[in-house]
Amino acid sequence: MFPTHRPRRLRQNPGLRALVRETRVERATMIQPLFVVPGRGVRKEIASLPEQFHLSVDQLVEEGHKLADLGVPGVLLFGLPERKDAEGSGAWDEHGIVQQAVRALKRALPQLLVITDLCLCEYTSHGHCGVLRQNGDTVEVVNDATLPLLARIAVAQAEAGADLIAPSDMMDGRVAAVRRGLDDAAFTGTPILSYAAKFASAFYGPFREAADSAPQAGDRCGYQMDPANAREALREMQLDLDEGADMLMVKPALPYLDILRQARERFEVPLAAYQVSGEYAQILAAARAGWLDRDRTMWETLTSIRRAGADVIITYFAHAAARQLDKS
Ligand code: PBG
Repeated sequence: MFPTHRPRRLRQNPGLRALVRETRVERATMIQPLFVVPGRGVRKEIASLPEQFHLSVDQLVEEGHKLADLGVPGVLLFGLPERKDAEGSGAWDEHGIVQQAVRALKRALPQLLVITDLCLCEYTSHGHCGVLRQNGDTVEVVNDATLPLLARIAVAQAEAGADLIAPSDMMDGRVAAVRRGLDDAAFTGTPILSYAAKFASAFYGPFREAADSAPQAGDRCGYQMDPANAREALREMQLDLDEGADMLMVKPALPYLDILRQARERFEVPLAAYQVSGEYAQILAAARAGWLDRDRTMWETLTSIRRAGADVIITYFAHAAARQLDKS
């Protein structure tokens, strides 16, 4: 008695396996996040994110060259300003750290896409993503007073030459505010990639050390989404589309593949998924302990994110993955 169906026939050798592979991770789909800091000649490994660096603008341009040579299409920029204040004014300063970085990158490498994260938390002394107001005993993050500031940051980033603006603050109405701000400043052609379904996740832990953006008090649960809510995520995405988002993002990636899949089925716009700092750091830590094979785990996670429906993956592995594709 032989089995009638033998799926293993097509698994016999690497050639057959490659022929029938349904999902491929190509370098054209990966965006590398980078952290830019003041100074010159700075390239300092980030303790919480092994193999990722704090880069001064000159070093950032060096890194941009390497990424472009490897065929990575773009970078997502985060800035650590010289000084923080209560408003977060470094975020829209025309000489602010990210604006300097965008100008330098676009001058040196016009073809490399520069995406700017649009948020206040790296720039505010309190570390929240919006304007704070004391309300009796509690401090609240005020939604509507934050919106004009976000629009102002977007215009500063567009003026510097950003190809794509990515608001990550999770205030209500921010995509509309950013779109209006850009349009009023004649940046009608600058697209918005909205962090539409961004969850209040423990997986941002290493990033907050990297970007020095942890809230001084309280947490982000009043504006980021409850990890338990899938329907609400779809509603957030619909709202952002209605407000004028050109692309949508799900963040984090691996713990939210169900959201990504549902979004893929429901929306026609390009979808991005952000494999966040904690997703990356846990793989590197386990690999260092000898418990996981770093590269195999990297490819498996990237493939899963693509399989679930992401067009674009924002990942700290972009550089490493592209280098491996280069060699293979
Ligand atoms: C800013 C922002 C955060 C991340 C991206 N943009 C941090 C946060 O919301 O606390 C996290 C990215 C990562 O963990 O890799 N709001």
